[in-house]
Amino acid sequence: MSIVTNKELLDRAKAGHYAVAAFNTNNLEYTQAILRAAAELCAPVIIEAAKSEIDYMDGHVFVAMVTAMGAKLPIPIGIHLDHGPSYEEAVRCLNYGFKSVMYDGSSLPLEENIANTKMIVAAAHACGVSVEGEVGVIGQAVDGPEGKRNDMTGIADPDDCEKFVKETGVDCFAAAIGNAHGLYTRKPELRFGILEEIEKRTGIPLVLHGGTGIPQEDLRKAIAMGVSKINFSTVMRKGCIETLTATLNANPGDLDLMKMLTPAREKMVEIAKEHIVMCMSDHKA
Ligand code: 13P
Repeated sequence: MSIVTNKELLDRAKAGHYAVAAFNTNNLEYTQAILRAAAELCAPVIIEAAKSEIDYMDGHVFVAMVTAMGAKLPIPIGIHLDHGPSYEEAVRCLNYGFKSVMYDGSSLPLEENIANTKMIVAAAHACGVSVEGEVGVIGQAVDGPEGKRNDMTGIADPDDCEKFVKETGVDCFAAAIGNAHGLYTRKPELRFGILEEIEKRTGIPLVLHGGTGIPQEDLRKAIAMGVSKINFSTVMRKGCIETLTATLNANPGDLDLMKMLTPAREKMVEIAKEHIVMCMSDHKA
């Protein structure tokens, strides 16, 4: 089908009470796996890449690759910048042909985050591109110094969220509600009361980062409260690397790179499908 904006995908998802799964990518096999999983489940999907992943692939090559693969598939696809660090990076992605950009100014004071996001919204909307913002810092799910975990820090304040959405004009935003990126070392405790309040005050589609390891029932509860996009990255990389390691160990000295990568790609198809179903976006294309 076609490459569409995240606004189009998320407005439909919010109305239909499901979330669009957004998977990070950084190479060919990874991208093939995500698109095959989505196509086989007739699901809309978002392919996203952070700055380091874009630099690794080259932004023009990334957009050309997804566009060429997507042209043959009967599903809508989003191409999105994940955790954009600056105005310059957002503009670079507009030039590459992204259909959505995220600006993550969550570690800045709120006023500064709002001012920067607003500038990006003006540039992106002039090009027909959607913008995702972030309020409240979403940390890493790792043990911090002195055994303290940092994955519960930075819970978003609903007042800040209301002000942020009103003043920036973003199309969707990620709010920190106890979620974190990476492998959780214990069950994440999402703050559903805060999520509910944020949805009530803002009304736009919400994004949940750090999808890896959040139980299905919590993902679905979040979707029922207005989450319309869920990001997954670590779970795909973990499955890929574990499978690749096992294949290499089982075939010492084998120099057929395609044979080594195929099982890892199959594993990523399986994982992507599992997470699309968790988001209830299968058969919603
Ligand atoms: P995970 O790596 O925890 O799945 O998080 C991905 C993410 O939120 C990308 O922005």
